[in-house]
Amino acid sequence: MILAANANAQGSHVGEWRHRDAWDRPASNLENAVRLARIAEAGKFDLLFLADGNGVRNLDKPDLFAATSPSDRPAVFEPVTLLSALAMVTRHIGLVATTTTTYDEPYAVARRFASLDHISGGRAGWNLVTTSNPGDALNFSKEAHAPREDRYARAGEFADIVKGLWDSWADDAFPQDKASGRFLDPARVQALNHKGDHFSVAGPLNAPRPVQGHPVIFSAGQSEMGKELSARTADCVFAIEGTIERARALYADLKGRLPRYGRGPESLKILSGVTIFAGETEAEADALFQELEDLVSPAVGLDYLSKMIGHRMADYPLDGPMPALEEEHVGPTGIGKAILGVARAEGLTVRQTYKRILPQMAGNLFKGSAMQVADRMEEWYRSQACDGFMIAAPVVPTGLERFIRLVVPELQRRGLFRTDYEGRTLRDNLGLPRPANRFFPEPARPA
Ligand SMILES: Cc1cc2nc3c(=O)[nH]c(=O)nc-3n(C[C@H](O)[C@H](O)[C@H](O)COP(=O)(O)O)c2cc1C
Repeated sequence: MILAANANAQGSHVGEWRHRDAWDRPASNLENAVRLARIAEAGKFDLLFLADGNGVRNLDKPDLFAATSPSDRPAVFEPVTLLSALAMVTRHIGLVATTTTTYDEPYAVARRFASLDHISGGRAGWNLVTTSNPGDALNFSKEAHAPREDRYARAGEFADIVKGLWDSWADDAFPQDKASGRFLDPARVQALNHKGDHFSVAGPLNAPRPVQGHPVIFSAGQSEMGKELSARTADCVFAIEGTIERARALYADLKGRLPRYGRGPESLKILSGVTIFAGETEAEADALFQELEDLVSPAVGLDYLSKMIGHRMADYPLDGPMPALEEEHVGPTGIGKAILGVARAEGLTVRQTYKRILPQMAGNLFKGSAMQVADRMEEWYRSQACDGFMIAAPVVPTGLERFIRLVVPELQRRGLFRTDYEGRTLRDNLGLPRPANRFFPEPARPA
């Protein structure tokens, strides 16, 4: 079972940062990030994962904006910069950063992740996204976010170029031989000379081939185009589903697409996002849940619900039923529709609906004693709902510490999770092979 730690400075609950156990002063705090990385590595986690965006969100939702939610991002580190620092204080754990294909350039991204892979000794991963927040466009000389089709067309070409650039040099291209005066072997480099619909990139990259050949590629889109891009190009998918049935269907769907690209099911790992409230007892987990709920005012809850469903909720009575909203009022992702579906099916009021989504950003939630949490994780894993989990703690760092102290030993006892790191690189630990070089497929020549 793969375990990834969502390493954002704030936990997944909107009220989290006000909790007595949460970090003090979490805005861009390096000391906290170092502590979190060390905690996750001591727990033998496969990787740290940083979601990201390029803009401050929720300026139009004044109560939520002032109180901040985990995805507002008013004061976060640029993720590759942060992971470069964390590479120096860790030895085994993978370091995965989100970078968008919509507002970046393939050469710059190939270079940045090749560098992180060398700096970390082969532990880098790139979470390829097409950007979820439309407002980010305004920070990149654009008037509007491009439609999904255009973003995915660009993303596919972008990923092919990045992989090609990582193959610019054979693994043995840099003899750096003082005696002969040959720094590099000119027969062991290949320019890319890419000319396509969106990019023209000559190459070669000004970095040696990454330690892992290619840093591990994550992707996180769940539309038809997002799934197809994952099947064609990703090593791991970060997926969010609220029920085990939906997660199984997505798992089968994604793995079923692989043969078309000559890939086997083991070549794509699916990590399911989940917020975990683990307690010594079920009652302890429930108590934390309640404490967090009490830290969110109705105004913040309403703004948060508005954000998730893409419709302004401030004018609806708190204890009245959720309105029946037409589909066109529902925001850009499937999440809004899912929330409205649950509210309708269960006859929830507005207040009950926002409370339902506060703890897990509308994703999945496992809450209970260590045994109960381990049982659910085992059920999801064994029934092919996922290959592992992207774990968010409700309160950081204590939620992660508690998970490692209570649940990890139980997973180890069941033979579901490692007791020590198997390999040197992130690929080794995930059980993913090192990709061949498309230009120099033969093994490296002896020096
Ligand atoms: C689980 C998950 C995590 C995501 N993380 C990010 C992120 O950190 N930053 C970002 O800009 N977009 C993120 N996205 C957005 C996707 O890259 C994509 O742009 C968005 O989901 C729309 O594409 P889709 O319709 O294929 O899902 C995420 C999406 C999902 C489903």
